[in-house]
Amino acid sequence: SEIYLQGFGGTKPEFSTDATRLESSAEALMEPGPFSYVASGAGSGSTVRANREAFDRWKLVPRMLTDSTDRDLSTSLLGTPMPAPVLLAPVGVQSIVHPEAELATARAAAELGVPMVLSTASSKTIEEVAAANGAGPRWFQLYWPNDPDVTASILSRAKKAGYTTLVVTLDTWTLGWRPCDLDQAYLPFLEGEGVAIPFSDPAFRALLDKTPEEDSAAAILRWIFMVTGTDRTWRQLPFLREHWDGPIVLKGIQHVDDARRAADAGMDGVIVSNHGGRQVDGAVAALDVLPEIATAVGDRIEVLFDSGVRTGSDVLKALALGASAVLLGRPYVYGLAHGGEAGVRHVLRCLLADFDISMGLSGNRSVGQLSPSVLRR
Ligand code: FNR
Repeated sequence: SEIYLQGFGGTKPEFSTDATRLESSAEALMEPGPFSYVASGAGSGSTVRANREAFDRWKLVPRMLTDSTDRDLSTSLLGTPMPAPVLLAPVGVQSIVHPEAELATARAAAELGVPMVLSTASSKTIEEVAAANGAGPRWFQLYWPNDPDVTASILSRAKKAGYTTLVVTLDTWTLGWRPCDLDQAYLPFLEGEGVAIPFSDPAFRALLDKTPEEDSAAAILRWIFMVTGTDRTWRQLPFLREHWDGPIVLKGIQHVDDARRAADAGMDGVIVSNHGGRQVDGAVAALDVLPEIATAVGDRIEVLFDSGVRTGSDVLKALALGASAVLLGRPYVYGLAHGGEAGVRHVLRCLLADFDISMGLSGNRSVGQLSPSVLRR
């Protein structure tokens, strides 16, 4: 109603209300390197497409005369209350998109009460983002360094700065084969503000001081080698538990046995995700594995979902298939590109309004009520 009322006065929305159109208009706004870093996926892009196609295979079956005018979309997850089961996915190096980067995102998220997940690859520090986020709910995503002191130091900073849940990303122990970035030889971590968290970290700095790097690119590479590699396994999870006293969620889970293993290892949740199709080209659509994972472990741990969410009915479909919440990736980054904080706020408000209307029109009053019975394949 806000938009239509403004339309009476001759004012149209500054940015499109459609996430897909925002992607097209972002391409015109952004430099080619940053745009394709955000938009593209691994290899031929087949998993990026599969993520969307999987949503299209499921259809909602709306119910009538259900008195769904009075809706409650709020929920609480791992002790974090939220206005709707939606979080902002961790997205690194947001300075390539907008100078205010994660600070703008943190302010917009806080204003709406939507939890943000801050990436280890953030272009602003843990503490700066916490200050911008104020009383807003925030989680921290870890790219897991192979140095225990650096890991412990980063976790203690995040805890101290009010991040409540730890999200450990497992699917990016090396970057996927991304031809769009490779063709442009573009790696944002090597640019400008690149990665702020290690460079503001006393334990990482102490290592640099011991063996001074000749230039900052060498120091960044040192960081990249520290967070890549396969030497972190299920056996090291207790280390994270020792150094983090809040909930821990594993991100990038795609196989039901890995989800069971996470539950057996005492984790509090998993995020069913293929990193938005950016890691394994040809990997299964995240939505296609969600139902079996939710069935297998949903009564023991929280099952969150991302990869391909663009609309309110996508949120509804993922929840009906067993997710307790979804994370939004690229769309809010395009919002950031268009208008900084106002752009992120716009994208979030549109998604929440679309979700609310889709819930009501399909006859659902609350998220707890959703089940596969509201869908047909
Ligand atoms: C990401 N993603 C990501 N994930 C993570 O755990 N840490 C990170 O630093 C990043 N960085 C990042 C940068 C960019 C530009 C994108 C697009 C994505 C993955 C992200 O959290 C999420 O899994 C996907 O974006 C979800 O898919 P959609 O919503 O983009 O389709």
